[in-house]
Amino acid sequence: MRILGINCLNHDAGIAVIEDGEILFAAHAERYSRKKNDKYLNDDIISEALGFGDPDKVVYYERPYLKKTRQIFAGQRSSAFSTENIPKNYLRKWFPGKIHYVDHHTSHAAAGYLTSPFDDAIVVVIDGIGEWDVCTIWRGKDGRLSRVKSIKYPHSLGLFYSAMTQRINLKPCEEEYILMGMSAWGSPIHKDEMMNDFFEQDLALKLKHNLHNGVGRYLEDAEKFDIAASTQAVTEDVLKNIFMWAKNLVPDVENLVYMGGVALNCVANSTVVAKLFDNVWIMPSPGDSGSSLGCAAYVSGDKVNWRGPFLGTNIEGEYPVEATLSLLLKDKIVGVASGRAEFGPRALGNRSLLADPRGAEIKDKVNKIKRRQKFRPFAPAVLAEHAHKIFEMPVDNIPYMQFIAKCKRPDLYPAICHVDNTSRVQTVSKKDNPGFYRLISRFYEKTGCPMLLNTSLNIKGQPIVNNKNHAREFQVRYDVPVLS
Ligand SMILES: [Fe+2]
Repeated sequence: MRILGINCLNHDAGIAVIEDGEILFAAHAERYSRKKNDKYLNDDIISEALGFGDPDKVVYYERPYLKKTRQIFAGQRSSAFSTENIPKNYLRKWFPGKIHYVDHHTSHAAAGYLTSPFDDAIVVVIDGIGEWDVCTIWRGKDGRLSRVKSIKYPHSLGLFYSAMTQRINLKPCEEEYILMGMSAWGSPIHKDEMMNDFFEQDLALKLKHNLHNGVGRYLEDAEKFDIAASTQAVTEDVLKNIFMWAKNLVPDVENLVYMGGVALNCVANSTVVAKLFDNVWIMPSPGDSGSSLGCAAYVSGDKVNWRGPFLGTNIEGEYPVEATLSLLLKDKIVGVASGRAEFGPRALGNRSLLADPRGAEIKDKVNKIKRRQKFRPFAPAVLAEHAHKIFEMPVDNIPYMQFIAKCKRPDLYPAICHVDNTSRVQTVSKKDNPGFYRLISRFYEKTGCPMLLNTSLNIKGQPIVNNKNHAREFQVRYDVPVLS
């Protein structure tokens, strides 16, 4: 049976196609429309998805009318009474037949558990807002999910983090990762005050106020970096409570599946999650865009075969190992656009901008192209077998950059180290991505350095390059070679 899963009309729309337990396709609409975080689908992504055959079932990742009841409660009258955000109406021109619906948190939980390597796992989903659920705890066993507990709107940790993101003049529901990066530059001096102002004590997660509309000018005279550090510290404490609670609710299970937008917080994943569980699976697209895959997998009724995150548009040809290597050895910054695009927010070698990570100058050179905030470092892609020599790894392998690790030699690699000497590490094995693995191995043979600087191949403000035309556009705009 071929099942097509959809997430749209909210943010970062996506489509996934599953057939008999195999994931045939999973991609983000923004990569086709070239509009960052695009909430709408488009003809290009739909026709690529339908290229795998007409679906037997079409599934949507949440329940629109249940969501409307929450929107009425939240005072979002224009959303609640709009007919434009009803998926059946919106999808009719592409999919006139029956649409199946799966709960928002069930889609998250399924996207995690059904792609995970575990038969038996605690499943925790924490996000900003969907229908009513904002934090759910499940047990996944023998391919089935059973819900153990749920916390409902407005007691949302994701909304707290988004409200603080907005407080420091960043874009909520989009730039939370910048707040996380800023947190290392500040001191958590407002942590106790913040905890006391917003969270009920002695409960895993209960807010004192609804933070859906932000926190106004809270801590008006405080430094932005200190607000960021305090927000991150409060979040880590609350997460610790939630995960301890989850462990009590589902005792004697050491495997954790963790999903929802809050699972993108790679700092907390290392400082909290990795310390509490022996084995952790975070699907590389844990936010709502991953739920297109989740809702389809849930309706398929069993685990799916996870072969990796390279599930999007294909750029044909062998991985350009030697051509890329020769430019890297000449100290050039090189783009690679080859093979299938990554599903999830990170470029993991197939749509990447690469450079030699050594030395003091490379960070500024890459920043000049990417025009990012100067306080943000770049990520290293390191051969998995060398990762432990360079980093204090919180877990054995980090194939999808979901954790940070302390660098043992920040003096050698300043471009990939944050101010606290941590890095958002990607470990690369032959199994994960044979072409990228071969490239880094060849670089290691030539230089003795087993890693590359890896950042996403995108023009500032635009989504990651998807096809050859976008790659060409990038090359012309920045005068950086992009190899396929
Ligand atoms: Fe969500």
